[in-house]
Amino acid sequence: MSGFQKILSMATSSHFNISRVILGLVLALGAVASRAEARAFFVFGDSLVDSGNNNYLATAARADAAPYGIDYPTHQPTGRFSNGLNIPDIISAQIGQPQPPLPYLSPELNGQKLLVGANFASAGIGILNDTGIQFLNIIRMFTQLDYFEEYQRRVSALIGAQKTLQLVNQALVLVTVGGNDFVNNYYLVPVSARSLQFQLPDYVKYLISEYRKLLMRLYKLGARRVLVTGTGPMGCVPAELATRGTNGGCSAELQRAAALYNPQLVQMLQEVNSKIGKNVFIGANTQLMHMDFISDPQAYGFKTSKIACCGQGPNNGLGLCTELSNLCRDRKQYAFWDNFHPSENAVKIIVRQIMTGSTKYMNPMNLSSIIALDSMA
Ligand SMILES: *[C@@H]1O[C@H](CO)[C@@H](O)[C@H](O)[C@H]1NC(C)=O
Ligand SMILES: *[C@@H]1O[C@H](CO)[C@@H](O)[C@H](O)[C@H]1NC(C)=O
Repeated sequence: MSGFQKILSMATSSHFNISRVILGLVLALGAVASRAEARAFFVFGDSLVDSGNNNYLATAARADAAPYGIDYPTHQPTGRFSNGLNIPDIISAQIGQPQPPLPYLSPELNGQKLLVGANFASAGIGILNDTGIQFLNIIRMFTQLDYFEEYQRRVSALIGAQKTLQLVNQALVLVTVGGNDFVNNYYLVPVSARSLQFQLPDYVKYLISEYRKLLMRLYKLGARRVLVTGTGPMGCVPAELATRGTNGGCSAELQRAAALYNPQLVQMLQEVNSKIGKNVFIGANTQLMHMDFISDPQAYGFKTSKIACCGQGPNNGLGLCTELSNLCRDRKQYAFWDNFHPSENAVKIIVRQIMTGSTKYMNPMNLSSIIALDSMA
């Protein structure tokens, strides 16, 4: 029996004080209403979290053709770089949203739908403006943040400035960026401009300092709960196994990059939090989350973490996933959907750790703890 039904049955029992019943009814309805109204959700970053913005752009970085989306509820490509749901979809469901936020460029994102949040992510982008230049027209981080300002003006016109600020302050934000600054910049060509300019350790320091500026701008724009993911184990994705694998294993050089970058990211987030005096930024150790199933795929129900489900060439790791590619039969058994992106089943494992992982995975705490904290505030 729900609380609501209990109150109704109390109301029908003759000896019960009717004013208490009415008070109880009001409280119960209030609880139902607040549970129905999930917090807003905003997403920034790259292809790991793009839900279709690039469909509206003249760019090669897109996932709006089959077999992308083959396991999505509609079985249609949507622009998500996944066979099915992506990380924002599953986090959105976990925080109780009936629908994940729409891509910011979607013409359907207007009116009340704006209040759910928005997804500003764009495949191919990085922390730096010069990352992903080969993809031409994509929404770089500073533009994603410009759009966030524009979004707030649009919502203000709808519900007023004060309620808009409240909506943004109470929202959950996800930022996933950084991998492309390595694979689609520093390591894109054998001798890239950035690799001539910087030794790897100095490049990592530069990335972290630029990332910090972007996150501080996000904070100034009102974000107060921000999940920040590190890079995955970039050297172990099928694309790198196929092109720079070391003795049949992960690329040592890209693994070195991830090993330098991820701890410094967490350290930067801790510094920013202590400067602000609140745990605004939460680091998700996506490298470790991936390594669990990469090093022991069978333990997580996968047949392989080395071969992409969709692709061609060694490890199915060369080039894009298209209708002409090899497509695996049982998609649930593959940790990687295409040469760079985890499969829906792998994404579920990653989000489970985001929700409930120990401090090894989530620093300073997991999303369940955050939700519990915020619901008490
Ligand atoms: C990226 O480009 C924008 C707009 O031109 C500029 O404001 C910003 O400073 C640039 N960022 C970096 C790191 O160069
Ligand atoms: C989340 O993190 C906290 C603190 O590290 C931990 O105690 C808890 O077991 C984790 N899982 C859940 C579901 O809260």
